[in-house]
Amino acid sequence: MSHAEEHAGTRRDFLYYATAGVGAVAGGAAVWTLVDQMNPSADVKALSSIFVDVSAVEVGTQLTVKWRGKPVFIRRRTPEEIDAARKVPLDVLIDKGAENANIDATATADDKNRTLDEAGEWLVMMGVCTHLGCVPLGNGSGDFGGWFCPCHGSHYDTAGRIRKGPAPRNLPVPVAKFTTENTILLG
Ligand code: FES
Repeated sequence: MSHAEEHAGTRRDFLYYATAGVGAVAGGAAVWTLVDQMNPSADVKALSSIFVDVSAVEVGTQLTVKWRGKPVFIRRRTPEEIDAARKVPLDVLIDKGAENANIDATATADDKNRTLDEAGEWLVMMGVCTHLGCVPLGNGSGDFGGWFCPCHGSHYDTAGRIRKGPAPRNLPVPVAKFTTENTILLG
């Protein structure tokens, strides 16, 4: 096959793929995603932040909301959970970083650097195991009374810090803040 013929063949293949349904749709979707990220329109921006009404969240319970396609745990901790988390010395922690998007990236994983309020009652975290992405079980699960990921056995404490198992990092705290006494803004 001459060079010219080879080139023509390649071009025909390209045209074929470009007009075939699946190829064309996949290409279009990829381009759209890129443009979407680079230049978000107002409605995309609105979806990337959500207000959560936490007025019905009792002490000792957790609300799970879906945000940007992922679960977010909003836990209102008991005094016992707060005490347990605050008693833990930093040097026993596997991940010594706060993993909190609201504060300095070098902040340590002390309990006060993990919660949304000074008193430490409100803990907001991505509900995604830092090992391979399963959703951990809450409500005092695991050996440290916080969350437990049954996929491969990762135990998180009452501040969502990894204490045992294969997960390498604390559950990340997303950008979040109280906008009213009962409303948390995510994003
Ligand atoms: S995904 Fe959670 S322990 Fe593996």
